[in-house]
Amino acid sequence: MATYLVTGVNRGIGRALVDGLLARGHKVIGTTRDGKAPVEHANFQVIACDITDTHAVRQAAEAIAQPIDVLIQNAGVFGPRPQELADLAPDDFLDVLNANVVGPWRVVQAFLPHLQRSGQGRVLMISSGMGRFSGSSQGAPAYRASKAALNKLVQTFAHDLKRDGIAIVACHPGWVRTDMGGAGAEIDAKVSADGLIQLAENLHLSGTGRFMDWTGHTQDW
Ligand SMILES: NC(=O)c1ccc[n+]([C@@H]2O[C@H](COP(=O)([O-])OP(=O)(O)OC[C@H]3O[C@@H](n4cnc5c(N)ncnc54)[C@H](OP(=O)(O)O)[C@@H]3O)[C@@H](O)[C@H]2O)c1
Repeated sequence: MATYLVTGVNRGIGRALVDGLLARGHKVIGTTRDGKAPVEHANFQVIACDITDTHAVRQAAEAIAQPIDVLIQNAGVFGPRPQELADLAPDDFLDVLNANVVGPWRVVQAFLPHLQRSGQGRVLMISSGMGRFSGSSQGAPAYRASKAALNKLVQTFAHDLKRDGIAIVACHPGWVRTDMGGAGAEIDAKVSADGLIQLAENLHLSGTGRFMDWTGHTQDW
């Protein structure tokens, strides 16, 4: 049994991750903006954490004393739709970067001591195939750029965290039927979550610094 911290668990992939982790007997600390979650379980605890708020993220970290074995930084936003060069307000772009790039930075920074205390800490940064430099780059420039920047954070964090024996990967969760992915997406949130959990359970330091998908395959950046 490992202790997982998962951000953004009130809906979507985060919610499915909680269900999957509890079913496997893991302990889960979930975060939501308001500290409420639609889950009640002896192995589940929820804390408030808005990842765009540095003070809130630090307070959340201070509220947790126990070591964290696996951090799944899942919370994120797509940003305005449509999202084109001609009509996206620059301040809306800043909001997307704050949530998808600076937010994960805040979370990893605040919970680093908990990962260090685990002795075998692992981090999954939920990114997106839309942040890849290879392949199509049509549409959603703010979202794509935010996930590309997140991927670069993962590459650099991997070097720093290796000193502490902590592995970190960027993960593409698939195109998932959630509020963000839409009803026409390819896979159910449970399928994505089950794959991501398997990935977390099999992640070792030798695999750090990669971009993986939910099936466990390494992706091009
Ligand atoms: N669905 C897909 O097809 C797909 C594909 C590639 C990557 N992803 C990535 O997978 C992750 C989860 O996506 P999803 O499809 O489950 O999206 P979702 O259904 O829109 O859920 C997003 C989650 O993130 C939380 N969140 C957003 N901003 C937050 C903030 N500032 N502080 C705390 N929590 C915040 C939301 O909480 P609130 O309810 O409070 O907003 C919600 O719990 C995201 O990082 C997304 O970019 C999704």
